[in-house]
Amino acid sequence: MPEPRTYDVAGIGFGPANLSLAIALDERPEPISSVFLERRASLSWHRGMLVPSAKMQVSFLKDLVTFRNPASPFGFVSYLREVGRLAMFVNNQDFFPTRREFHGYLEWAEAKLRPNVVYGSEVVAIRTPPGERGPVDRLLVEVRGDGRSGGTRLVEARNVVVSTGLVPRMPAGVEGDTSVWHSSEFLDRFRAHDRPIRRVAVAGGGQSAAEIVRFLYDALPEAEIHAIVPAYGYSIADSTPFANQIFDPDAVDDYYDGTPRSRDAFWKYHKNTNYSVVDAEVIKDLYRRAYDDGLAGTNRLRFLGLTRVVDVKSVQNDVRVTLHSASRDESHDLDVNVLVCATGYDPMDPCAVLGDLASRCPRDDAGRLRVDRDYRLVTPPDLRCGIYLQGGTEHTHGLSSSLLSNLAVRSGEIARSIAAGLAAQEKR
Ligand code: FDA
Ligand code: NAP
Repeated sequence: MPEPRTYDVAGIGFGPANLSLAIALDERPEPISSVFLERRASLSWHRGMLVPSAKMQVSFLKDLVTFRNPASPFGFVSYLREVGRLAMFVNNQDFFPTRREFHGYLEWAEAKLRPNVVYGSEVVAIRTPPGERGPVDRLLVEVRGDGRSGGTRLVEARNVVVSTGLVPRMPAGVEGDTSVWHSSEFLDRFRAHDRPIRRVAVAGGGQSAAEIVRFLYDALPEAEIHAIVPAYGYSIADSTPFANQIFDPDAVDDYYDGTPRSRDAFWKYHKNTNYSVVDAEVIKDLYRRAYDDGLAGTNRLRFLGLTRVVDVKSVQNDVRVTLHSASRDESHDLDVNVLVCATGYDPMDPCAVLGDLASRCPRDDAGRLRVDRDYRLVTPPDLRCGIYLQGGTEHTHGLSSSLLSNLAVRSGEIARSIAAGLAAQEKR
């Protein structure tokens, strides 16, 4: 099929969210043309954290499609059947596959659907066409390092769906380098590191930190591992049934239609379902290692609770980490070969690709972008094309905004809204 001059949809970023959207568009009754622009060279779901034993944090049934269309051929169960693992998966009696297996599922879904993805394409801005008068029905997406030509080009679309993912966060004032890594790049850095690691520190009290400490303890049998944890010790992620309801599709309505007070309550009572917390299984695994370590008298796994990284300096080939201990209210230095900052992420920031359009969009009282229930950004009245957000909607749609839990349903809602908008455009 020849490429259209103007696509119905341009997706920015191609992680699980836009892969789920590509399937939802494909499963609509009316044809909708689409292109997806992804800066990486291939599909990659947090590859830097694909440590062998890491497991999913949602049920396999919260895959790309099932909550929207359980009969879709793109479900995780269809994947298991096609690769010949369905019976074994059931015998294994575990709702939570490894992240590696889920990555295999995402690759399978992409290969089966064959969406129009241009890899090696970084979107730098979205603009309205120059010199256009009256209502604007098309947007121009500016792409750098275009996978096809290696240059810069403009992609024209009637709708844009921004899905660029979480943004890695370092401790204030700390810059990454060859010995100071963010957890998002952990495995790439670890594999490329060509000097011995005898002493390593991992900062953070969340899932990333705990998984990395466990991995390093096993991968470096001679090394000392210093775990720098802001809490007294790793705290458990609440995944119990009542709390888990905040990730249900209905919870999006409760959050969206809620009052400022009820929205605050979601965060106050349920932040511990996801942030700065660790799965029980990993906590138990780590404590078992600490126990055995003590028993053997090796003492190479060291936990520094109530402690944060406050400064980092290079000292020859090593790193001097300044730590602040809240219990003693004092700082001290720790010299290590490598510091891993598993210090979390900021939410997706659509303004990074919206360019000048960001300043023209209406804001709420707190200065945040306004977003309709169908994830459509509220834009100036003369802009009739749709800009949709998959992520960065924690303030309007709640805690599942950055997660997989509601992907299938959200993609369906966005696809439906896009289809309705295109039909309305055609009538005009
Ligand atoms: P994702 O980040 O996956 O994809 C965004 C894509 O956009 C990337 O491929 C990026 O390269 C691309 N991009 C960014 N800027 C671009 C630009 N300017 N131009 C072109 N492309 C651009 N959640 C959950 O519910 N269960 C889980 O088990 C996990 N596990 C998990 C593990 C780890 C290590 C992390 C860090 C996070 C999770 N999460 C999670 C949360 C995570 O946000 C979620 O799993 C998905 O990655 C969200 O999918 P997205 O497609 O929105 O973002
Ligand atoms: P996170 O949950 O936000 O945790 C970041 C941690 O870093 C917090 O404990 C934070 O403490 C700490 N921190 C921040 N600044 C620090 C400093 N200066 N010194 C020491 N510690 C500092 O981030 P994450 O663990 O990367 O998890 C992010 C998301 O990815 C979550 O949704 C998580 O579930 C997901 N994830 C999933 C998997 C998986 O599926 N297996 C694996 C990894 C991550 P404060 O809270 O006190 O600031």
